[in-house]
Amino acid sequence: MNPLRELKIGLKTLAMRSFVRGLTLTRDPVATVLGRTALADPYPHYERIRARGEVSRHLVGLYLTAGHGTAKSVLRDPRFGVEPAVDHVGVDWNIDAGDAERLAHPMEQSILTMNPPEHTRLRRLVAPWFTASALREFTPRAQEIVDNALDDLVARPRFDLVTDYASRVPVEVISALLDIPAADRFQFARWGSVLAGTLDGIRTLSERRAVHRTVSEMTEFLSYLLARRRIGHGDDLVSRLAHTEPGEGGVRELVALVGLLLVAGFETTVNAIGSGALRLMGDTELRAALLDDSELAAPIVEETLRLEPPVQFTLRKALEPVEVAGQELAPGAMLVVLLAGANRDPLMFPDPTRFDPTRANVREHLAFSVGAHYCLGAGLARITATAALDGLFRRRPDLAPAGTVRYKQTRNIRGCSAIPVEAAGARISLGRS
Ligand code: HEM
Repeated sequence: MNPLRELKIGLKTLAMRSFVRGLTLTRDPVATVLGRTALADPYPHYERIRARGEVSRHLVGLYLTAGHGTAKSVLRDPRFGVEPAVDHVGVDWNIDAGDAERLAHPMEQSILTMNPPEHTRLRRLVAPWFTASALREFTPRAQEIVDNALDDLVARPRFDLVTDYASRVPVEVISALLDIPAADRFQFARWGSVLAGTLDGIRTLSERRAVHRTVSEMTEFLSYLLARRRIGHGDDLVSRLAHTEPGEGGVRELVALVGLLLVAGFETTVNAIGSGALRLMGDTELRAALLDDSELAAPIVEETLRLEPPVQFTLRKALEPVEVAGQELAPGAMLVVLLAGANRDPLMFPDPTRFDPTRANVREHLAFSVGAHYCLGAGLARITATAALDGLFRRRPDLAPAGTVRYKQTRNIRGCSAIPVEAAGARISLGRS
């Protein structure tokens, strides 16, 4: 590692941090939402931003929208594109010059940050594994993973719902879909959590080192996996990719794609399960209705995603001059699409803060985005979260919080880091002992 380069990166990171901190002092709503002051409850800030207009320009030069209609049309508009965060945040994730050529970052160098035609070509390679019919076939396997996780909790009157349950199920589900042994699940989960944290930007040199280490480990693991599958004749997703002729990006683009599939659904689905369980434990009527009718689990997941979207916002860049809701955006202008704000737009969802799984438009939220980058794993996430929540309360109907619920300290990815729980019956016996 070149110490001069590391020093330069350190200074740049510090300058970025001081800049954002300085802006927060101006009480600019963008800095508030993108900074750390709104972590506890970001939702009133989104309301404030929407109250300024469908699209507003803020001190930092970014445009924002928290309106459902505008968000949806921007996300579907080919005049907007995506780009790697390094291009707009201005600080690189890699430490050694040249690593961007050698390593495959699952977010920075995958379809998530690519535009057509590369995006379309690569997404098509893996889309067949995420169609409704492919997922229908996979559902019993996901259900089996949920059942096994619940079996392991049977003897435990107290446990942490996030660590012992919500974090386990999505990792095992995606590992099964990719046909990768789940034995490495703790390592996968760690990779997912490091990378999810960087969606907020990289604030310190030690965070940068952690990202670098994670991307190096993932690149090595996945390159080996693809090389092994290239020898075989399997028809699983990774084997098919391994036999694909790589495009201009070489094998690295395939490594990044498998990496994205592996980690994109971890923190997100974990948070959806955690938030849903928290809601059900706090609302006895809703829980009774679910126990009465399993069909309610799916709309409960949708309403959870609407009100507590695990991905709070995304970014788009104007690729050409474009007018949005009366604002002229020049090419290169960046627009923050507040998915979580759009999900509470009263024009789309009357009485938006009310949790109502019977809403006619319950699936119209933007938690999975929309348009070209619509979450490829949305169907899988829905199956996983629905089975996880329904299974949990069917097996532990009297589950209740048993300690302090803690939230992750990340602003783009939102969810609980700890939900200590116990079965009500257990509380009595534990109290006696
Ligand atoms: C509740 C769980 C999940 C949520 C809330 C979620 C949310 C999102 C969002 C908001 C985007 C689009 C970002 C943008 O428009 O810029 C996205 C993209 C993506 N998600 Fe998910 N996701 C979830 C689960 C999953 C799962 C389980 C997978 C498994 C494969 C997955 C794979 C992907 C991929 C591959 C993309 C990139 C799509 C593209 O760029 O074309 N996600 N997700």
